[in-house]
Amino acid sequence: MAQLLITGGAGFIGSHTALVLLEAGHNLVVLDNFSNSAPEALRRVQELAGPEAAQRLTVVEGDIRSAADLDRTFAAAPGDQPVAAVIHFAGLKAVGESVREPLRYWDVNLAGSRQLLAAMQAHGCRTLVFSSSATLYGYPEVVPIPETAPIQPINPYGHSKAAVEQLLDDLAASEPGWRIARLRYFNPVGAHPSGRIGEDPSGVPNNLFPFVSQVAVGRRAELQVFGGDWPTPDGSGIRDYIHVMDLAEGHRAALDVLLAEPPQLLTLNLGSGEGHSVLDVVRAFEAASGRPVPFQIVARRDGDAASTVADPRLAAERLGWRTRRGLADMCRDGWCWQQANPHGYGH
Ligand code: NAD
Ligand code: UD1
Repeated sequence: MAQLLITGGAGFIGSHTALVLLEAGHNLVVLDNFSNSAPEALRRVQELAGPEAAQRLTVVEGDIRSAADLDRTFAAAPGDQPVAAVIHFAGLKAVGESVREPLRYWDVNLAGSRQLLAAMQAHGCRTLVFSSSATLYGYPEVVPIPETAPIQPINPYGHSKAAVEQLLDDLAASEPGWRIARLRYFNPVGAHPSGRIGEDPSGVPNNLFPFVSQVAVGRRAELQVFGGDWPTPDGSGIRDYIHVMDLAEGHRAALDVLLAEPPQLLTLNLGSGEGHSVLDVVRAFEAASGRPVPFQIVARRDGDAASTVADPRLAAERLGWRTRRGLADMCRDGWCWQQANPHGYGH
């Protein structure tokens, strides 16, 4: 059992990971400014974890860019133990928005991470799990993509993630003792199987899965498939979708390795290693929901690659972790959440 600080723990990936870590017996303090999430998500995490575990979760409303909020959060950790590790999810993640508002993205993603790292140093905590992204690989030259592939992001969001990865390199080299995992997520989707927590995008979803589920539930008329002429078997784009519960378990595994092994800097893809096309997703969602998902094939979206799939072998080797859930599970659980919460948490 360890004392953990989770930034952005009310968000999509953070809430599922918080549940897995509570169930593993850890004490958690979550820092979130709720700019893209609702306190209700954490209330439901507590409900799912049960009354004993619920008491091991403390929530602080605040901003990672504020030294005072960070100090408050380190001080809020329940019990006498200092914070043993930080899991850093807080950040902005919408590619199109990052093109329009680069200053905000650099501020939250890079300046926010820098402030957090300074607070960790001040509070004597040197263990970090960082949410990185497969977006770093840009248009990949080799698929499945190994961690050694060139870092060549193509938008401000990706640049800000690459900058934090660089900062973590520099920090790890500056003093011994840092234990850092940079986890490069592929395409996280789905929900907890209870349907109580899930992804709750605000406005029109940018990403495929939430869009498809909103079409299935009747909130939107049809899906636009971005490109039917990609060099893939059915002409639609291929991605490596990963069930958010597998991803959450990947964080637990990374944390266990960091806390047990000597200091190190780990850089790992978290993906399934399997690619699915947009049309595969449409068909799987129709099967899981029993609802039609009407679609129209339109022009390609700027900045899209034909195919991005992880080489997940290094994570399997270093963490003893691999994905266990397939596309049908992702659709079933995503549908369960969507049906029970057609308007998300309503925030
Ligand atoms: P999310 O938006 O659901 O969660 C992010 C959380 O951070 C939210 O609860 C938000 O309120 C909080 N937050 C934002 N700015 C903050 C600030 N300044 N101070 C405190 N809290 C703040 O996103 P997610 O999908 O759960 O993603 C989590 C992390 O994983 C992000 O860093 C994202 O870039 C990264 N990531 C996500 C994906 C994906 O497809 N979802 C893929 C790769 C990487
Ligand atoms: C996108 C981001 C990526 C980010 C990831 C997770 C872009 C170019 N990339 O990845 O940086 O890390 O989200 O947040 O925005 N699609 C449709 N119709 C839709 C939506 C998507 O056909 O309405 C297709 C896309 O062309 C793609 C696939 O579905 O082939 C998956 O798209 P999406 O869910 O947006 O994820 P990525 O593009 O992989």
